[in-house]
Amino acid sequence: MGSKQRLLGHIADVAAHSSRRTFVDAFSGSGCVAHHMKSRGYRVVTNDVLAFAYHWARAAVENSSVRLTPDECDGLLAPSRNAGTFIADTFADLYFTDDENALLDAFSENAAALTDPYAQSLAYAAMTRACLKRRPRGVFTYVGMRYDDGRADLRTSLADHFRASVDAWNAAVFDNGLSHEARHGSATSLDIDEPSLVYVDPPYFSTRSDNDYTRRYHFLEGLVSYWRDLELQPHTKTKKFASPHREFQTRAAAYASFETLFDVLRVQGHDVLVSYSSNCLPSKDEMLAMLRARWRCVDVVSVEHVYSFGTHGHRVGNANNRVEEYLFLAR
Ligand SMILES: C[S@@+](CC[C@H](N)C(=O)[O-])C[C@H]1O[C@@H](n2cnc3c(N)ncnc32)[C@H](O)[C@@H]1O
Repeated sequence: MGSKQRLLGHIADVAAHSSRRTFVDAFSGSGCVAHHMKSRGYRVVTNDVLAFAYHWARAAVENSSVRLTPDECDGLLAPSRNAGTFIADTFADLYFTDDENALLDAFSENAAALTDPYAQSLAYAAMTRACLKRRPRGVFTYVGMRYDDGRADLRTSLADHFRASVDAWNAAVFDNGLSHEARHGSATSLDIDEPSLVYVDPPYFSTRSDNDYTRRYHFLEGLVSYWRDLELQPHTKTKKFASPHREFQTRAAAYASFETLFDVLRVQGHDVLVSYSSNCLPSKDEMLAMLRARWRCVDVVSVEHVYSFGTHGHRVGNANNRVEEYLFLAR
């Protein structure tokens, strides 16, 4: 949800107006922006509050050389004597078949045993992508298969999705000659020593739809830690966990979070590139005012963008999803 895959060229063009050569993707999500800027020769630091997004970035941005071998791929899918039964017990009949739940329990044990951190992130990245592709609409906000539209992806087993995802992630690994870093935490507590260009693409607040990433992707977030330290809510149909992340989620929190974030980035001496959309709050004028209060030179360009929302994929191309995407550059 909220991927900027289609805006990569525009983002890189605007970024080129900053003299900074370290690009910090403070809300990295899929990691596609960070990965693209790595391909453009920047040193890249990523950050996201979700652990699975951290693994995606560590697999394909921080990692410049490690790939999963066919043997490792087979090993990750093999039955494990030490595997737990948490997924089979907790999520029976909700998202995947019994065999697939057992496979995920075994995978969790096998992945935790990997000693190379990049191999481990590649394993988590590949399995969370496989779970997304195996799931109608790619979200975990409902149970069962009621949105099965007959897509080939839904006829493909989780194991086959995993093998294809390993190939895709392996192909994304490359070296641009610089060192990169993936971080896991809130952008409002980011601490970056070197003057950088910080890309700010937070959950967009709108009165028309919620922007709760954890509600959509709780299963993926749980999987990468085997639900360690997460407070499962057994009374919920989806068996989601209580999300501790509230920044950017209400009108008041969205304004307050931007103010806090911009203060932090200004004090550390960074340039800032903000993605925001015309149908969200703060408005374009409010965003300009917040930036101009802190930076000397603020420019904005707008690009027409058609969104594919996680839960509204069927509405792609629908006029309601057509918005102006703003790119604010503050130096
Ligand atoms: C609009 S998406 C980013 C999309 C990304 N640019 C892409 O192209 O895939 C927003 C991201 O912000 C993350 N997020 C939400 N609150 C955050 C916070 N306080 N600090 C860091 N990341 C946060 C979400 O987990 C989500 O991945």
